Amino acid sequence: MAAFKELVFSGVQPTGNLHLGNYLGAVRRFVALQEQYDCIYCVVDLHAITAELYQPELKSQIREVTAAFIAAGIDPKKHIIFNQSQVSGHAELAWIFNCVARLGWMNRMTQFKEKAGKDRENASLGLYAYPSLMAADILLYRATHVPVGEDQKQHLELTRDVAQKFNNDFAAPIAERGHADGFFPLTEPLIGGPAARVMSLRDGAKKMSKSDPSDFSRINLTDDGDAIAAKIRRAKTDPEALPSEEAGLAGRPEAENLVGIYAALSDRTKAEVLAEFGGAQFSAFKAALVDLSVDRLGPIGAEMKRLKADTTYIDGVLREGSERARAMADATIAEVKDIVGFVRG
Ligand code: TYM
Repeated sequence: MAAFKELVFSGVQPTGNLHLGNYLGAVRRFVALQEQYDCIYCVVDLHAITAELYQPELKSQIREVTAAFIAAGIDPKKHIIFNQSQVSGHAELAWIFNCVARLGWMNRMTQFKEKAGKDRENASLGLYAYPSLMAADILLYRATHVPVGEDQKQHLELTRDVAQKFNNDFAAPIAERGHADGFFPLTEPLIGGPAARVMSLRDGAKKMSKSDPSDFSRINLTDDGDAIAAKIRRAKTDPEALPSEEAGLAGRPEAENLVGIYAALSDRTKAEVLAEFGGAQFSAFKAALVDLSVDRLGPIGAEMKRLKADTTYIDGVLREGSERARAMADATIAEVKDIVGFVRG
């Protein structure tokens, strides 16, 4: 990896209902990484139309994710925040990657199978090719580190496969251009912590998700204190008290989920949380979780709403971020076209 400058890239879809899973699995970690790395955080609006084409609220959803990034603590002056559709290189590189990636690779993508459901014939071609666009998002900036939740792991493996195949297939022109370690880096996924996979509050076997029909399954970042409290109080649990050690969470997915959420929000490990709450009934633990959640999430939700209403500011952040991203993207695209063998007149 020595030949590649360290750079973090990640993206969030503007499909509405940004929730606690998105926050703990991704956005909160984006904030922490900006101390150590140069970071690019993208509102991936091209991805957002793969499942549902016409979304009257799309513009508002793009601004909401942008507002969430800033409200959570990402500094758009020091790092880049932009929306994908303003940088044409994403779509251009994705086309080339459609020719790099193999059908067999795509056929193994579990998220496509989940999202397409039973009516696969009716899924869009965009939904099927989605991981190729995601690889393009990352590799357009030759990013070395990608923080995501657990559910994106397979897509990041595919990103590495795409990079590797491109580097191999074009080994001669890449070497001629002086790139001794290949043109694209093999990106490192950054997945981890106690909340890499936050589960539904109604069902510990299901991921917390934007598309769950029950709003009680998730805590939205825009929920106010009363809504957060009501959802945590109604969260599914089991009749046992909390264990004192992590091993005691085995086979208790709902308990494990709530302990993981508490740990992530309080910057502790699950073991530390259990050392404090072991033996407690859920009623007491949930009361503590409500206080912590309202304390940590309340101000972010309020700031998100304030920022989102200031469309001039939000659109300005996206415009400026896009300009900076485009300069980097254009340089990669020019080189890629040359490596592939297209003529530039
Ligand atoms: P998206 O928009 O579904 O989710 C955004 C981020 O939130 C994480 N996440 C979760 N983490 C923990 N628990 C959960 N229940 C949970 N639900 C969602 C996701 O893992 C993700 O990190 N394909 C991506 C967007 C994308 C992208 C990229 C990411 C497009 N291009 C390039 C990284 C790099 C997606 O659909 O995320």
